[in-house]
Amino acid sequence: MPIIHNKEGNEFHLYNNKISYIIRELPNRQMGQVYFGKRVRHRESYADMINNSCRPISSNPVAKDPNFSLEFARQEYPAFGTSDFREPAYEIIQRNGSHIMEFVFDSFRIIQGKPETEGLPHSYVENKNEAWTLEICMTDHLTGVKLVMFYSIYENAAVIVRSVRFINTGSETVCLKRAMSMSLDISDSDYEWLQFSGAWGRERTPFIRDLEKSGVTMIESMRGHSSSQHNPFVILKRKNTTEDEGEAFGFNLVYSGNFMTLADSDTFDHLRLMMGINPRNFCWNLEPDTEFQTPEVIITYTRNGLNELSGSIHDFLRSRVARGYWRDRTRPVVLNNWEATGMDFTEESILQIAKKGAEAGIELFVLDDGWFGSRKEESGLGDWFPDRSKLPGGLKGLSEKIHAMGMKFGIWIEPEMGNPDSELYRQHPEYVLRTPSRNKSLGRNQLVLDFSDPEVVEHIFNSLSTAFDGVGIDYIKWDMNASVTECYSAHWPAEKQGEVYHRYMLGVYSLYEKMTAAYPQVLFESCASGGCRFDAGMLYYAPQAWCSDDTDAIERIKIQYGSSYGYPVSSFGAHVSAVPNQQTGRSVSLKTRGNTAFFGAFGYEMDLTKLSDEEFRQVREQIRFVKEYREVLQKGRFYRLGSPFEKDIAAWMSVSDDQKLAIVGVYIIKTNVNMGFRQIKLKGLNPSFDYEINGKEIQGGDILMEYGLTPQIAAEYPKVPYVSPARTIEISGEYDSKIYVLNSDGDSRPQ
Ligand code: GLA
Repeated sequence: MPIIHNKEGNEFHLYNNKISYIIRELPNRQMGQVYFGKRVRHRESYADMINNSCRPISSNPVAKDPNFSLEFARQEYPAFGTSDFREPAYEIIQRNGSHIMEFVFDSFRIIQGKPETEGLPHSYVENKNEAWTLEICMTDHLTGVKLVMFYSIYENAAVIVRSVRFINTGSETVCLKRAMSMSLDISDSDYEWLQFSGAWGRERTPFIRDLEKSGVTMIESMRGHSSSQHNPFVILKRKNTTEDEGEAFGFNLVYSGNFMTLADSDTFDHLRLMMGINPRNFCWNLEPDTEFQTPEVIITYTRNGLNELSGSIHDFLRSRVARGYWRDRTRPVVLNNWEATGMDFTEESILQIAKKGAEAGIELFVLDDGWFGSRKEESGLGDWFPDRSKLPGGLKGLSEKIHAMGMKFGIWIEPEMGNPDSELYRQHPEYVLRTPSRNKSLGRNQLVLDFSDPEVVEHIFNSLSTAFDGVGIDYIKWDMNASVTECYSAHWPAEKQGEVYHRYMLGVYSLYEKMTAAYPQVLFESCASGGCRFDAGMLYYAPQAWCSDDTDAIERIKIQYGSSYGYPVSSFGAHVSAVPNQQTGRSVSLKTRGNTAFFGAFGYEMDLTKLSDEEFRQVREQIRFVKEYREVLQKGRFYRLGSPFEKDIAAWMSVSDDQKLAIVGVYIIKTNVNMGFRQIKLKGLNPSFDYEINGKEIQGGDILMEYGLTPQIAAEYPKVPYVSPARTIEISGEYDSKIYVLNSDGDSRPQ
């Protein structure tokens, strides 16, 4: 069993062949952190690995034990105020106004598999043998509140999944002011913090920060969604950790609402990392006989660099968080009309674009915003019935015509919103989140619906199913375009207003649950003004997400590159759009636009009828390429080879499981004249295989990985005089790119 309990000291060792996670009861009967890292051999006792020492002016919670203080003890789920003064994992206010709790060890259970977490997205098992779960129950005897800490370890993943549940078995209601999903005290603080931040249109840019030497490093969202400003995924890495070497921890929060994650470095050189629902504006009334379950955190560990860390995260999110019919299927090639028409379309104009798409080999046509109610920029949102002036045959009429062209039919919705000018709002003004007698801010002229109220969720579900039943919908793009402001729900009494942000998310998840159950074969793509809600929680319901509203290929290289640290390529909705690009005004070749979008759930976001014959031929070729190679592009092992944030040439690659096929993408982000020579060292190949590169040259996997691929970049841009290139120029000039397809017969060559 991969969880061993040492009775002496009440120690638990969770392990698999990659990692060990060891915890132990502390002198005050709380649980302490002993070790988390590479697998170590089991021992009878880890008592010597607890830091005990008598420190001047530290407070000691256990009488006559001056060596023990929570001020420096490494803990599993710390509280403030009982001799620890660092960031707490939880805070509970009792009726008498006290914040002090004393959770002491009560009991434990080791179970095979992993229990379901109702109402929240979570990782799962397909078979009980693949994971074990440790549940440790702690009790605060004065209030009768219990704290259950969950730890799951999978047999084949360098991953620990943590969450906690508070259960009130007492007789008074307490207020949960803070309930983080996990807290981890690491034994030294010599790490860097890598966060993925940005804004609309430039989501998930990697930022390395030095940790505060003595203090707190933190990111958060208070927007009601996980946000493009800060992603709920962070990495802790050693200063010298690279893509290929070194230690790193990854933390993915499986949640899509307000979050906080922080690292608190103490004066004794420990580091406390915690993650969970943002405690700001949070206050959950834990009534007698009720429970509160936090979202999960997936903690990933490596000693072998960031590419390996990301690989473990990709595998885990793709196979044990994403679910359903489309989880393991390669994704259809999409044509979406948004950048082609906006809301200004008729059935006829849509069919013309769709027809061209069918000719090009498109597999799924998606009708974006503008098909319903009296939809204009400022009106109609929330009215989920077709606008007959645009679609005389309704959705069914259009769907039949698209299907008759041999394509699947997809549709855009934004179920969590309404315009003030909509039938929905006129009939149900009480359905929106707003603070009574206060100004209401609008985002994109929209009001956020009160999804904390189950009646609102039910109403939207009914209107969506009325619109979609029998229509033949194959795909749904679920958008969300406004932040939650003036958060207040008319549905809940005053004392429950601190629950509304989280209850809103529970409402969103419940609608996703209803929709995915009602339409099990529909492919869901989540979206929030592009990539503003791109997180592991959404992946549980929608196996792909629209990466960003910025479709400029060069910007997309950055966005997809940054996203790849914490999310699998199969989850990146990535489309080729028209030039000049609508967001940046930049013109990039069709080739590079395709070469970028290949590494994602591929599609087009443009009017294909406007292409020249030559461009159309290229589009057909791109689609043929994706169909041939999407298995490896979307499901292969992905490696970052060169960062667009650091280098003038970016590169990445995907390798098939059997290592016989690999696709490499190389992109010039910035050029200068007479550029230096470049070697792009490939990864994940088999060193003893020979690879044919683009059906021509043959190179050993060893050379490709150790010496590298040496593309002939235009040091010699063709128009520069006095140059006659010795080798054919393969990539020339700014924003050019090249795809290399590497094929091997799989025979090992002797050294
Ligand atoms: C958001 C999405 C876009 C598009 C528009 C429609 O911005 O990210 O892809 O669907 O809404 O209004």
